[in-house]
Amino acid sequence: MTSQATARLATFTLHDGGGLPLVLLHGFPLDHRMWAACAECLPPGIRAIAVDLPGAGHSDLDGYPPSIEHAADSVYRTMVEAGEGNAVVVGHSMGGYVALALAERHPGFVAGLGLVDTKSTADTEEARAKRLRIAAAADASQTVDAVLSMPAALVGATSTERRRHLFPVLDSWIRAQSPAGVAWAQRAMASRPDRTAVLKRFDAPVAVVVGAEDAITPLADAEHMVRAAAAPFGLSAGDAALTLVPGAGHMSMVEDPQAVAAALGLLHIQVVAHH
Ligand code: MLT
Repeated sequence: MTSQATARLATFTLHDGGGLPLVLLHGFPLDHRMWAACAECLPPGIRAIAVDLPGAGHSDLDGYPPSIEHAADSVYRTMVEAGEGNAVVVGHSMGGYVALALAERHPGFVAGLGLVDTKSTADTEEARAKRLRIAAAADASQTVDAVLSMPAALVGATSTERRRHLFPVLDSWIRAQSPAGVAWAQRAMASRPDRTAVLKRFDAPVAVVVGAEDAITPLADAEHMVRAAAAPFGLSAGDAALTLVPGAGHMSMVEDPQAVAAALGLLHIQVVAHH
């Protein structure tokens, strides 16, 4: 069921073009800005629209209880109101959870899926409990202190050594988020189900991208999604492509924007051919 109290979300055109857009969904605890460098590297002519998910960046919370499903419905409603009937939906980590919920709830909208440093499985009990603790800490302190240490885990060992300039950038993006938005997102992620079956049913092109040094959603999670997405086609090449980004961690689109943009450009070509 589509949630009723669906707010209009803030959107940002990060790359100009025509036709079927890429809709870019950010990870946690970030906003649309994490896609900017990658969008700049897209092939000419591909339109890229980044969305701030509920409570992140310039998007408000609308009083709806935390859920990935509500985030997906909000993206859908926002895009339809903007005149976008369908799109290639690309999600990073938490944005990937939202992309899979969109494919489940609004399959006609999703013409292709890009799943970047994310996974289709649900949380373990331990991970869920940790999220609820972080949400409670954000509420109690009215700060985002509980997530300020994240940049060290988000980037890979290569970036820690050679791309030190990314640390203050990630830090400033995290500090700009609202405590209420951080708490909402953690509770939303904690309650999401396993959506591997959504990928099994999805019958349009899928690109799975993962940083070789991603310690949060590692290669095994990416391979699990590729296997699920390829299932209906009997592993036919091109329907579920896997791109491994060397020297990058969980923020592959920030750490190596060209590599991720190239994979998304190929996905767009495949979707247009398939459409
Ligand atoms: C993200 O990058 O969106 C988060 O690390 C996802 C998560 O906490 O599961």
